[in-house]
Amino acid sequence: MCGIVGYAGPVPGGEADGGGLAVVLEGLRRLEYRGYDSAGVAVVADGQLLTAKRAGRLARLVEALEVAPLPATATAIGHTRWATHGAPTDANAHPHVSEDGRLAVIHNGIIENYAVLKAELQAQGVVFTSQTDTEVAAHLLGRAHAELGDLGEAVRAVCRRLEGAFTILAVSADAPGTVVGARRSSPLVVGVGDGAHYLGSDVAAFIAHTRDALELGQDQVVEITAGAAVVTTFEGEPALARPFTVDWDAAAAEKGGHPWFMDKEIHEQPRAVADTLLGRSDASGALVLDEMKIDEAVLRRADKIIVVACGTAAYAGHVAKYAVEHWCRIPVEVELAHEFRYRDPILTERTLVVAISQSGETMDVVMAVRHAREQGAKVLAVCNTQGSTIPRESDAALYTHAGPEVAVASTKAFLSQITACYLLGLYLAQLRGNMFADEVREVLRHLQAMPDAVQTVLDRAEDVRKLARELADSRSVLFLGRHVGYPVALEGALKLKELAYLHAEGFAAGELKHGPIALVEEGQPVFVIVPSPHGRDSLHAKVVSNAQEVRARGARTIVIAEDGDDAVLGSADVVLRVPRVPTLMAPLVTVVPLQVFAMEVATAKGLDVDQPRNLAKSVTVE
Ligand code: G6P
Repeated sequence: MCGIVGYAGPVPGGEADGGGLAVVLEGLRRLEYRGYDSAGVAVVADGQLLTAKRAGRLARLVEALEVAPLPATATAIGHTRWATHGAPTDANAHPHVSEDGRLAVIHNGIIENYAVLKAELQAQGVVFTSQTDTEVAAHLLGRAHAELGDLGEAVRAVCRRLEGAFTILAVSADAPGTVVGARRSSPLVVGVGDGAHYLGSDVAAFIAHTRDALELGQDQVVEITAGAAVVTTFEGEPALARPFTVDWDAAAAEKGGHPWFMDKEIHEQPRAVADTLLGRSDASGALVLDEMKIDEAVLRRADKIIVVACGTAAYAGHVAKYAVEHWCRIPVEVELAHEFRYRDPILTERTLVVAISQSGETMDVVMAVRHAREQGAKVLAVCNTQGSTIPRESDAALYTHAGPEVAVASTKAFLSQITACYLLGLYLAQLRGNMFADEVREVLRHLQAMPDAVQTVLDRAEDVRKLARELADSRSVLFLGRHVGYPVALEGALKLKELAYLHAEGFAAGELKHGPIALVEEGQPVFVIVPSPHGRDSLHAKVVSNAQEVRARGARTIVIAEDGDDAVLGSADVVLRVPRVPTLMAPLVTVVPLQVFAMEVATAKGLDVDQPRNLAKSVTVE
């Protein structure tokens, strides 16, 4: 939520060298998925501070800069916004500038005590020009810089006064060549280049220039110049930032010929699952999780698992519950992180909390992790992003290796999160003796076969695309599933809401008769996710009956069923086939047609698939 980029590097060499401004605009392009309500930049050149900002997509800012260019510069910051305080207007766009016009600040997060600070500044005669919470930071920083004479000191002094979650970057006409960044509960990473340093909300901001990065801790300030990155606490004590190397490159964050990032990411799913499984077993075939830094005795003792997550990640947790309970015989609760945090959950030293997050920055999940640890529970993060907050604040992290996910609607992260949670379940079952080694090996073999199965579904996607074009004008679409098909139904509905702005609901198929069936009217499209007939027979038969029940009431049923399952034919208007896989693996294939369907409906409606309205990929506010 809100993308932040900063650059301090060499003075540009010639006309073709756009310097810091070009670097920052390129970084903003890669971070635009974090928010796209407005965009802005500030540069320091020839002893002056210059800014440009526009409401709307980054393209509007770029157009404005073509008409009224800013000079190439060695020092620049840029911001792409997801509005919290104040509508997405030019005036509310970042950067915000101090009263004397010499210092600019960009911000991600929420300054919770901004009203008090604003009243104080207004009483001193400061005139505000926006409705943002950020503007208080600009005025406070301008004053602190004038008084203290050092930009780093000024940022530290102001940060000590701010409450809430924030990342801020500041530049000043009086500190050329320096960008100062600070973070509290909001993301900020440092890129270490050859004679240049970068700041970004995530590594995508500078991946075109360097893969060497530093992970900042809580309540830290970093001052970057071309030659150095100096990290301190808010109190000014020297602090250490952990170096890491990004394991993907700039090409991984490009569309690579696909019309949308989402299309590319859907097609990367076989790879995402395969990479998440890589290197997880030893020579004897036993499962090893090197990153599992939680004491084995603690894991053996665990008497409850609570999964906390939001959005698609929560549905991945919901899928995992079925497998982990089945394999490990430990009760698993799945809870939306924002609900968990405020309901006074029962946590003990024997509770294992699993925090699932693609970005590793979702604030609701961060808060849940902190609460769980304060209560003495152990927390394992299942995360896709190195250098992010959630794994850093957890007791251990199990990384999904899906590569960068840029489209706002999550796809490959979902499959890799299920895969990682299954690895966790198998690991616990092995450790606690719930499964024999050969049983674990067999499930691992099934998992290893899943990338090919997912590829088979992708190879058949043309039928789904055709169907999506036919149904693009639907008013509402329902999704039904049972057992692991239930969270898949919820995820299918979420995808359609997010991308196509269509009313869509997912239901447990058994719940249908308790109310939702009243929604069914003539022609109502209903997706039915049918479990394998080779699994539990009664489960299969019941879902087929549910499809019949809605069809008898006029619904148009789109049935997702296994190859060769002819029992569905009598209750299906359309059958979408998936390869035969074990019941617990089915979500990895059955969700794929639903992802493709939502993407194609949105495309047919002329909508922006990668950046749906009102959303942001990384939600760093509560
Ligand atoms: C946002 C995104 C969703 C995502 C959720 C959780 O709401 O729009 O696509 O599933 O955040 O994100 P996380 O990064 O924690 O997995």
